[in-house]
Amino acid sequence: MGYLGRFYREHLKPYILAIVGGMLLLQLGAMCHGLTTTMLRYVFPAAKTADKVAETGIFALVDKVQASFQHLLGHLLGNGDALRTNAYALPALIVLLFFLKGAFTFAGTMVIVKSGIKATQALRERLFRRTLDMEPSFFHKHPVGELLQRCINDVAQVQGIASNQLAEAMKEITVALAMFITVMAMSWQLTLAVFFAVPLVVFPIQKLSKRIRSVNHRNMEASARLLQRLKEVFTNIRVVMGFAREKYEVERFHHQQHELYRLGMKAARASFLTHPIMEMVGGLLIAGMILFVVPRMGQMGWDSAKFLTYMVALYAFYDPIRRLTKLNNEIQASRASLDRIYGFIDREPLMKTPEAPKPVPAKPQALSLEGVRFSYNGKDEVLKGINLEVRTGETVALVGGSGGGKTTLVNLVPRFYDPTEGRIILDGTDLRDFDPRELRTRIGLVTQETLLFMDSIHDNIAYGKPASRESVIDAAKKAHAHDFISNLPQGYDTPLAEAGASVSGGQRQRLAIARALLQDPPILILDEATSALDTESERAVQDALEALMQDRTTLVIAHRLSTIQKATRICVLKHGQVVEVGRHDELLAKGGEYARLHALQFHEH
Ligand SMILES: Nc1ncnc2c1ncn2[C@@H]1O[C@H](COP(=O)(O)OP(=O)(O)OP(=O)(O)O)[C@@H](O)[C@H]1O
Ligand SMILES: [Mg+2]
Repeated sequence: MGYLGRFYREHLKPYILAIVGGMLLLQLGAMCHGLTTTMLRYVFPAAKTADKVAETGIFALVDKVQASFQHLLGHLLGNGDALRTNAYALPALIVLLFFLKGAFTFAGTMVIVKSGIKATQALRERLFRRTLDMEPSFFHKHPVGELLQRCINDVAQVQGIASNQLAEAMKEITVALAMFITVMAMSWQLTLAVFFAVPLVVFPIQKLSKRIRSVNHRNMEASARLLQRLKEVFTNIRVVMGFAREKYEVERFHHQQHELYRLGMKAARASFLTHPIMEMVGGLLIAGMILFVVPRMGQMGWDSAKFLTYMVALYAFYDPIRRLTKLNNEIQASRASLDRIYGFIDREPLMKTPEAPKPVPAKPQALSLEGVRFSYNGKDEVLKGINLEVRTGETVALVGGSGGGKTTLVNLVPRFYDPTEGRIILDGTDLRDFDPRELRTRIGLVTQETLLFMDSIHDNIAYGKPASRESVIDAAKKAHAHDFISNLPQGYDTPLAEAGASVSGGQRQRLAIARALLQDPPILILDEATSALDTESERAVQDALEALMQDRTTLVIAHRLSTIQKATRICVLKHGQVVEVGRHDELLAKGGEYARLHALQFHEH
């Protein structure tokens, strides 16, 4: 059972009464339906249902049940005399029964659907919350497509268990148990003998169950890859179109679809094989009865009526089991999804909040890196012993060739990663002793890829924090963004398309700067854009950055000469080491690595 049991305990239990209640309502609906057919027979009282049972033979159990309804009705209505004396009574009763049937069925379905949706949404929310608890490097290992797959399709797969599958399984089990007692009472010896068929059913079903689980798992993985592919194509649509690779993408898509088709067929084969297996076993049972029991009926003291009754009861026992195996297939597929969902829920975040986190100082005085070493893969060191101190109000510029480790270094400060060796200290406390979320509220981050959400400009600047329009406008003004925002059709309420496609690169950066200004963090991390903006944007972004850096502790990956010249200190990073530290003029005069970089980068200045 494993995760199935856990899912039941953790998410289904609160709804189990509702699900069972809903199932009972559906049963009531079915009974009303049964009654209407029974009542129709009152129109032609000569048709004796009891005889019909024998006529249609052993498979007409339904008729038998209805016969007892009729019997009951006969008692209640004085053999239908009341119905026959009043011409309107029967039609009225039938209309009422149809109405009740509809009402019960609707109510029962609604109750079950509601429980199913609620239980699975609780699971999905838990999965989402857990995913956000993961350390940032988790998201490198699990691409967006996979996360979407688990949060959407795996959870949807589970919804079946949370609604009808469970209730139906319970119903079938109850019927099977009742019928089992009946056949045991009629002849326990014969019933035990029938059980030779059990392994014939159990072994293949077990094997098929396992197969369904593994195929469904692979199916979910393949659709995760497909989702990832779609996400990449749609987000990089300009590259796809720019290189005219539509045909190539469609071909790749076709191949991935083919993989899904193969797995889908595999799943269907495993799933629908149970049906012929169950039919075969049923046939074997009937044949066995005819071969072994019929010649010995006299010996056993059975007449043909008793034999037929036994067969009817045996079939009534076998039928729910057959339906259970079909249900089992669906449950197995859901189990594979549950495994995947709980795989994430049970994964401990590698970056834990300490038991007793120290409060993060509101106005920290100094941020220092002490002998910081870092490796992404545990082999190649990207940072090889960095020592660096940034005091409040200072701006430290990181410069250096591509791949020197600048981005890696600044990513350690908000603890997107932790140093492999050495430590980072804020006012005497190791960053690892803080609650990472609290730490991050003190750090403003403006990166090269400025990420915007599909909300209004106002909501993008405020991002998740309640902020008055005045404070948003104030931040936008400081970020030199107010003018262009005011010119947008709906001003601050203009919705942004995905990834900010409706604003220019420079405008986007200024929105991100406004966001950081509104957050007003004491520590600031800037990853300056390398992309050349036009002079006017460049000027505006530059002014915005300067407004942002005022009175903050700033660590900036600098490409702009003006930022570098104004920096308190410049650190030149090369192959993961600080090779030079100093002011612009000092480093230029020294004629080392910085002078070389400067000559390469700014020869035009
Ligand atoms: N997520 C990652 N996983 C593994 N290796 C990485 C990862 N990010 C960066 N690296 C490696 O770490 C090294 C330093 O990369 P980093 O991004 O810190 O350089 P950088 O100084 O910011 O360069 P650039 O100026 O081009 O942005 C590079 O060799 C890079 O291949
Ligand atoms: Mg970088």
